[in-house]
Amino acid sequence: MKATEMGWRDDVERVLIDEKIIEKRLDAMAVEIDQQFPAGPILAIVLLKGAFVFAADLLRRIPRPLEIECLNVSSYHGGTESSGSVKFLDHVLPEVRGRHVLLLDDILDTGRTLKAVADRMFEEGCAAVHTGVLLAKDKKRAEQVQADYVGFEIGDEFVVGYGLDYKGRYRNLPFVGVLKPVD
Ligand code: PRP
Repeated sequence: MKATEMGWRDDVERVLIDEKIIEKRLDAMAVEIDQQFPAGPILAIVLLKGAFVFAADLLRRIPRPLEIECLNVSSYHGGTESSGSVKFLDHVLPEVRGRHVLLLDDILDTGRTLKAVADRMFEEGCAAVHTGVLLAKDKKRAEQVQADYVGFEIGDEFVVGYGLDYKGRYRNLPFVGVLKPVD
């Protein structure tokens, strides 16, 4: 079966942010981070699974030494609503003591994920947490957190693609889009 016959893009109602625009914004974000981040190697922590596409594309644009760790956390369990609790799925956390961490996530929605992970990083003794997200929803959050680096502000709608899923699917769409209503 050809990719075009898989119905993969047919589920998308509209493209919100296309590939070219994402690429251009990542170029600018990488410059911002490189200029503003304290001197020395960066320790990037990528929140799985959603941030893997964003992080891979962003971090390859940052022209200085960096270490990359991943942290597997979950709160949506594949659906469209936050469960309200953030689960840490790894047995061992990255070593962050004394480090400036660049925490990367795909989307800032209720803020629970970034808040829970940043709190945990501080408990583990990190020196500072700098946060970067591809998308930030323009809404009142359950947790008062902001990201230091934001790719795009979007409205309060459920989006997929470029790492973001619905029921585990659509992460490999090369753009950010809105799905057709599911009946
Ligand atoms: C999604 C997304 C962010 C988080 C943002 O993760 O990847 O990590 O929710 O939402 P919040 O601001 O309301 O916490 P999800 O739990 O769906 O896991 P996933 O990354 O594996 O898809």
